[in-house]
Order: sequence, then C-alpha cells, then structure tokens
Amino acid sequence: MRHLMSPLDFSAEELEKLFDLANDIENNPAKYAHICAGKKLATCFYEPSTRTRLSFESAMLNLGGNVIGFSDANSSSASKGESVSDTIRVISCFADICAMRHPKEGAPMVAASKSKIPVINAGDGGHQHPTQTLTDLLTIRSLKGRLNHFTIGLCGDLKFGRTVHSLINALSRYEDISFIFISPEELRVPDYIIDMLKEKNLSYKEVISLDDVMPELDLLYMTRVQKERFFNEEDYIRLKDFYILTKAKMELAKPDMLVLHPLPRVNEISVEVDDDPRAAYFKQVQYGVYVRMALILTLLELA
Ligand code: NCD
Repeated sequence: MRHLMSPLDFSAEELEKLFDLANDIENNPAKYAHICAGKKLATCFYEPSTRTRLSFESAMLNLGGNVIGFSDANSSSASKGESVSDTIRVISCFADICAMRHPKEGAPMVAASKSKIPVINAGDGGHQHPTQTLTDLLTIRSLKGRLNHFTIGLCGDLKFGRTVHSLINALSRYEDISFIFISPEELRVPDYIIDMLKEKNLSYKEVISLDDVMPELDLLYMTRVQKERFFNEEDYIRLKDFYILTKAKMELAKPDMLVLHPLPRVNEISVEVDDDPRAAYFKQVQYGVYVRMALILTLLELA
C-alpha cells in the first residue's frame, strides 16, 4: 500500500504518468465519472483549509465516490485527547483513502505508519504540502509544456511557506532549473533547503528586490506571509505587505512569464493583475482537482 507524504515519494517517471492521467481526466471527464463508485475518501483536517479540502472532496465526487471527514480539530476526537495513530486506525474502518492536514510536522507520517488505507499528506505545519506541489507541477507542465529549462522566482514567505519547500524539493530533480529566492531577510528559505541545493550543485540566488530579477523569470511563484506561523503580530504587520505584484511590475516581466500562487491570496497580488493572460493562479486551482483525481485513482490502484 502506498501513501503520499512528500512529492519525492513518486519517481519523476511516475509523476509523468500521474500528469498524463490528470490531463486525460481533464480532456475526458465522463470516462472517469463513476470509477470510484462505492469508495470513500476521509478528509481529516486538523487545521483550517477550504481550498485543499474542497479540492479533495470535489476530486472524489467527480470520480463518483463519497466523502466523509472533519474540518477542524475541535470537531474531532482530538479535542478529547485522541492520538493521530488511534484516529487513523478508526478512520481505516470507515474509508478507503484519507487526506490529512495537521499543524504538526510529521503527523500524517505517524498516521500513515499505523494506517490500513492510503494516507495523503494534505499539509503538515510548515513542512510539506505535496498535493499543492503536484498541482504546481501539473500547471507548469500543462501551460509551459515542460518541467525543465527555466528560471523560477519564489517570492514572499520562503521561511514558513510549506508549498515553497515542497516545490523546491520537487523541482530539484529536473534539468536546468535556476532558482531565485525573493524574500525579506527574516523570511529566507530554511538552511536545510539551501544545503540540499548546494549538495546537488543546483543554481540559486537569494535577493530582496523583486523588480531587479523580474525580467529574468520564466515563472513567478508568489506566496502569502504565513500569519499563523508567526510568533508575534508586530513582525507579521511589518512584513505582510513587503511584496505586492502590480500591473506596473508585470511590465518588467517576459511576455510569457507565468504567475503562480497556491492561494489564498491576501495583498501580495493586486487584483488588477488577474486579467493579465500570464496570471495562472485560478487555472492552477482547476489543475489541482485533476491532479488529486489522478492521485486518488493511482493510490487506490484503479488507474
Ligand atoms: C497553502 C497552504 O495551505 O500551505 N494553501 C493551499 O493549500 N492552497 C498556502 C497558504 O496557506 O498560504
């Protein structure tokens, strides 16, 4: 039985297969509409989320399956003191597959070790968010036609943003990717990621100014400052509007640069950018459903 804890759990070849399946789902939705009839997905969300949870639920419903679950820790037995290990043993009796989000790094992995059904990490603290990464990769591959040979700027909260950590990890396997990390001093990429890039001899630079590097980018991955992971309000207020992508800034970019964002957006992309054909963040949400459908089928061995 297979789980998904990190985007690296799948080989690059397996990811290609997964993305081909996601594109086939995109083009032939009717073919997949009943394939999960009689199957249940449990969404166990110990931390607030609307888009990721609803994306999983709509993926399962699109496949003809059903969903059960909870959307915050207070409405689960965790509030009575139940451990994640016990919860997953119980959920294993109710559902065929589980997507779990947890504020503690590693909690979905603990669950997976005790589970009788496939567990998908739907975000663990500031650590990883593999299904967002699958979404990001599918979006890039579908819109750019490749997952290699580009310069990507990651901008915003690179310290606490788990989608950033997962995406860097995943992209480190593809050829000729240059990373430009754009953040204030306080929100730089964690050392363990820089060490990994150095070890693999990959090209990266860390800068503060978005404007300076804008003309170099093939992709710009914007992120929100992760308020809930800050220790004090003052720092958050000081840093939250450090970057705001505007129409004027977009004029500095290549005509085919794509703007991605895992959402939710706060202030970091001005709404005036939404109509720019290079703004891909709402398309990204749609790809997120296709890739989660492909993932459910793959882990349930129905594809
Ligand atoms: C991200 C997350 O939860 O880490 N959201 C998402 O899953 N689409 C990004 C964020 O919350 O900023």
